[in-house]
Amino acid sequence: MKTIGIVGAGIMGRGIAYLAALSGFDILLHDLSEDILKQAMQRISSDLRKGVEKGKITSQQASEVSSKLHPRTSLDDFKECEIVIEAIIESLEIKKETFKKLDEMCPPQTILATNTSSLSVTSIASSVGEPTRVVGMHFFNPPYVMKLVEVVHGHQTSERTLQRTVELARQLGRTPVVVKDTPGFIVNRIARPFYGEALRLLGEGVASVEDIDRIVKLEGGFTMGPFELMDLIGTDVNLAVTKSIYERTFGEPRYRPHIIQQTMVDAGLWGRKTKRGFYTYDS
Ligand SMILES: NC(=O)c1ccc[n+]([C@@H]2O[C@H](COP(=O)([O-])OP(=O)(O)OC[C@H]3O[C@@H](n4cnc5c(N)ncnc54)[C@H](O)[C@@H]3O)[C@@H](O)[C@H]2O)c1
Repeated sequence: MKTIGIVGAGIMGRGIAYLAALSGFDILLHDLSEDILKQAMQRISSDLRKGVEKGKITSQQASEVSSKLHPRTSLDDFKECEIVIEAIIESLEIKKETFKKLDEMCPPQTILATNTSSLSVTSIASSVGEPTRVVGMHFFNPPYVMKLVEVVHGHQTSERTLQRTVELARQLGRTPVVVKDTPGFIVNRIARPFYGEALRLLGEGVASVEDIDRIVKLEGGFTMGPFELMDLIGTDVNLAVTKSIYERTFGEPRYRPHIIQQTMVDAGLWGRKTKRGFYTYDS
């Protein structure tokens, strides 16, 4: 594989683009407007600068990464890609529309991967003519730091698609784990009670955001507390994932969203991306 298409230049799309360009791939990065793409490129440049300052990458690598990133407002050139990784909003309807477009645009051998955290890969695959080429490729945030990639085996994913995706994850220096297409896969299923109980403790007034995070880190040995993590992920994305897992498990009470999540989203407190969430962030 030489060229990777990425649809969606938000937190995950631009993170995957950074990682893949650093691994030597040419990247076509698509989003809805020039403005969004410009912002994404600025964020990647700033991440590259920080990478150089911290000694994680050389300035030569940083300029190579920049030269490998090609922003695109149209999907026309995506026919050149051996794999397209979709990282747009967590909505089944919109992902299906996007996959339908990609199916029309890309030749049959192009693998179509989704970075969904919780939606059914099998259902997304039903929107394309050849569902055997659809697979889940679930990176974690930030993709260039987090090693795990869940490679999700949809009901009709072919062995070729699965193996090529596993190989790509390894080429990107990640650790792939093949999982069945089940709500939340492994990590997001385990993570639901982590957020859910923290939100219930907060809602019942048992402890503050800061205390819950501090205790989980100090006593539990976690790197981040549940509220810090929700802010990093985006409270909007976290709510969408919680709702999706709740719906896909036919209302399993363990996964029920909390009203605090909806209130945060309604108030525009989406975490780091809006500079305000459970915590406030300066520039
Ligand atoms: N945020 C996380 O920590 C995280 C971790 C793993 C997986 N994911 C998954 O990755 C996906 C993206 O999440 P994110 O956090 O990057 O979201 P985000 O809101 O930061 O970015 C989404 C991007 O998709 C673009 N977009 C929306 N509709 C589009 C369309 N029809 N065509 C092209 N671009 C479109 C938006 O303009 C935006 O730039 C979701 O499926 C999410 O569940 C998120």
